[in-house]
Amino acid sequence: MSRLTASGLVSGYEDMMILHGVSVIVEDGEIVTIIGPNGAGKSTLMKTLFGLLPAIEGSIRFGDLDTTALPPDRLVRLGFAYVPQVANVFPSLTVRENLELGGFVLRENLSRRFDRVFDLFPALRTRKRTRVGNMSGGERQMVAMGRALMLDPRLLMLDEPTAALAPNLAAEIFEQIMAINERGISVLIVEQNAKESLRLSDRGYVLAGGCNRFDGAGMELLENEDIGKLYLGG
Ligand SMILES: Nc1ncnc2c1ncn2[C@@H]1O[C@H](COP(=O)(O)OP(=O)(O)O)[C@@H](O)[C@H]1O
Ligand SMILES: [Mg+2]
Repeated sequence: MSRLTASGLVSGYEDMMILHGVSVIVEDGEIVTIIGPNGAGKSTLMKTLFGLLPAIEGSIRFGDLDTTALPPDRLVRLGFAYVPQVANVFPSLTVRENLELGGFVLRENLSRRFDRVFDLFPALRTRKRTRVGNMSGGERQMVAMGRALMLDPRLLMLDEPTAALAPNLAAEIFEQIMAINERGISVLIVEQNAKESLRLSDRGYVLAGGCNRFDGAGMELLENEDIGKLYLGG
């Protein structure tokens, strides 16, 4: 029903193409992780899937729909939500205000959606009036994911959700990603903490130099010696 199928994507900036024909599939209900070295084009891929950069070639389908040329606001209404790698919260606003802004395009059931976010992130429930700029990195990431969940997504795209977090906080974020997925939301993650992320993923992709290099089941990639040496730090 909400399978994401991106095929042969060519995309980039101005006249410099970064993706040279990248293909990714996220089946309904899956967690899929994309790993790869810095500069591989992982964030560029996320931005292209979310309609922030045009696909010069290739196609993107979501369920039965061709979404290749749709802008982000249309994709949001179809069930896409995207948490960028940086600048993903408003630091000068409170937790509640950040969540409200996340959900403003859907007016109905605001209180139910607040409740759902606070069920997933109990640490935020008592801090509704706290300015997000005063919170820790882990809490800020929860606010960023909470904002995206205010859109009631069917597919949540997370660009490096655990970057710059201490290992125990990263583990907590991964637990929360699994809890989100258990509610039936598909999740596409780009991660530097590649091992941890692949471990909880149904499938993974390795991207390098703007091209697909490997893909397979999460555990299969983890156990592949070549991938271990090249991309997982041995
Ligand atoms: N806004 C931009 N304008 C021009 N080039 C960019 C921009 N953002 C990223 N790039 C370039 O695109 C390439 C891929 O970047 P990116 O997709 O962010 O990689 P990754 O997320 O895998 O680290 C890099 O060479 C980067 O310098
Ligand atoms: Mg990136």
